[in-house]
Formats: sequence, structure tokens, C-alpha cells
Amino acid sequence: MSPTYHFLFLFFLCIWINAESADPSGQFCDDSTKINSTQISKNIDTILPKLVLGTSQYGFIKTSYGKGESQIYGLAQCRGDVSSEDCSTCIQDAANEIRKRCPNQSDSRIWYEYCFLRYSTRNFFGQVDTGFGIYYYNVQNVTDPDPDTFNKELGALMDKISSEAVVPANKGLGKAKTVLTPFNTLYGLVQCTRDLSKQGCAECLAIAIGNLPTFCNDKKGCRVLYSSCYLRYELYPFYFPLDSQKSSVGASMNYHSYTVYKH
Ligand SMILES: *[C@@H]1O[C@H](CO)[C@@H](O)[C@H](O)[C@H]1NC(C)=O
Ligand SMILES: *[C@@H]1O[C@H](CO)[C@@H](O)[C@H](O)[C@H]1NC(C)=O
Ligand SMILES: *[C@@H]1O[C@H](CO)[C@@H](O)[C@H](O)[C@H]1NC(C)=O
Repeated sequence: MSPTYHFLFLFFLCIWINAESADPSGQFCDDSTKINSTQISKNIDTILPKLVLGTSQYGFIKTSYGKGESQIYGLAQCRGDVSSEDCSTCIQDAANEIRKRCPNQSDSRIWYEYCFLRYSTRNFFGQVDTGFGIYYYNVQNVTDPDPDTFNKELGALMDKISSEAVVPANKGLGKAKTVLTPFNTLYGLVQCTRDLSKQGCAECLAIAIGNLPTFCNDKKGCRVLYSSCYLRYELYPFYFPLDSQKSSVGASMNYHSYTVYKH
């Protein structure tokens, strides 16, 4: 094979892999819960298409199915800024993947960039849950502006978008940008699950923001994935509608992660 041919082959292989199965940002299969009856398994199989349908139509659904010990509570939601097309694709991927990744756990959760899906035999609706978290941070440190200025601006932006997210009409979403320097603009987004009260949403976001200095200190970008809320900031546009004035060309996309689980 000529080098060009090699390159094309790799290129198509990559596209094929991407089309075949979208990789989630993370999952949590709670090993302390087991699918210990076929009825639970059947109820999960029944609730998944309901979660897909509801999310595709409304961007969010919480529902339950079944009776007694095998009753399943399910919640699914898309990030509030994504199109209904992207939402629908995302939640279908989530529903397809979750049982492959968590085959034996009755409490299972899966995160994608555009959506989130979870189910359990326990009624978790309305409860703030930050017990399991994944933090993705850009390995690069901020240099422009200096970290002190950056952290002040980041704090102010997070306060602003958190206070947007708790307004019921905003459906748990807050997003905004701040111009930091002639070369850098900070973009931030927070999203609560829509089953939370105003207080619950504020509580979840406060925990996520409070953990930024621990897991994302001085980092150019970070994501916090909790079961009740999501947070992301970057020095390039990532939320919709995309800021076309700025490009992410040259931005470092090298992220590492921490997974934290408090029993
Ligand atoms: C399944 O597990 C739950 C709790 O994990 C327990 O309450 C229930 O009795 C178990 N059911 C069966 C059929 O073993
Ligand atoms: C799930 O349970 C089945 C049956 O008990 C077992 O064969 C399988 O290895 C388990 N899978 C995982 C990933 O633990
Ligand atoms: C970022 O800063 C931290 C703390 O000062 C340091 O340990 C780390 O090596 C820096 N990372 C890079 C990529 O320069």
C-alpha cells in the first residue's frame, strides 16, 4: 500500500468507528446494586425506549415503570443548548450503551457531552447527588491572563450562570462568555437535571464550583460530571449557538480525568 492509501484507510476506519458507537464521557455502574430478578431486567428494557422518546420530544423526562421491588425509576436529559436532532441521537446512543456497560447493576448512569441517562430501583427524583463525579481537565495551565485574574473571572462567570440555571424558565441551563484578554475569551456552561428544585440546583452547582480549585486549579478548561448537574468551562467556544467570531484552532485538547466516588 502507498502511504496515501494507508492514510485514507485509517481515515475511513476512524469515521466508521465513530459512526458505529459513540463513546460516552463516562458511566457509573453501582456495584452495590444488582439486577437480581428477570422482572427488573424487563422493566429496564421497557423504560429505556420511554426515556429515549420523552427526551427526544421534550429534552427531559423522569418516569417510572413496574411495581414493588422491581419498579424502575428513570431519568434522561439533554444539555439545554443542543439541537433536538443532536439530542435525539445522543439519547439513543445512551440507551444502547448503558446496558452493555452496566449489564448487572440496577443503578446505572451514563454521561455524554450532549446528554445524560440514569435508572435505579430507588426513587432518586429531586435528590441532589454528587457522590459520584468525573472531572475532565485540560492539562495546560492558564497563562493569559495570569491565574489570579483568570480565577476571579471564572468565579464571577460561574456565579452569573448558576443564578441563571436556577431560574425555572431556564430549565436548569446557564451559559455565558467573558472576554478576558484580546486573545482569550472564557466560555462557561452549567446544567442541572430538571427534577431538582431551585435550591437543589443551586446546591449541586455550588459543590461543583467549590471543587474546581481541587480538581481543575488554574486549568485552561474543565468539566464536572455529576448525576444532578454538569459544569464546563473552556477558552474556546463549545456551547450552542457556537460563537463563530472565535475559533478553537490551536487550542490544546489534551484532557485528563479524575473519578471520585464517595460511599
Ligand atoms: C434483590 O435485592 C434487593 C436489594 O438489593 C432485595 O431487597 C431483594 O429482596 C432482592 N430480591 C431477590 C429476588 O433476591
Ligand atoms: C453479569 O452477570 C452475569 C450472570 O450472572 C455474568 O455471567 C457476567 O459475567 C456478569 N457481567 C459482569 C460484567 O459482571
Ligand atoms: C501546571 O501547574 C502545576 C502546578 O503549578 C504543575 O504541577 C504542572 O506541571 C503544570 N502543568 C503544565 C502542563 O505545565
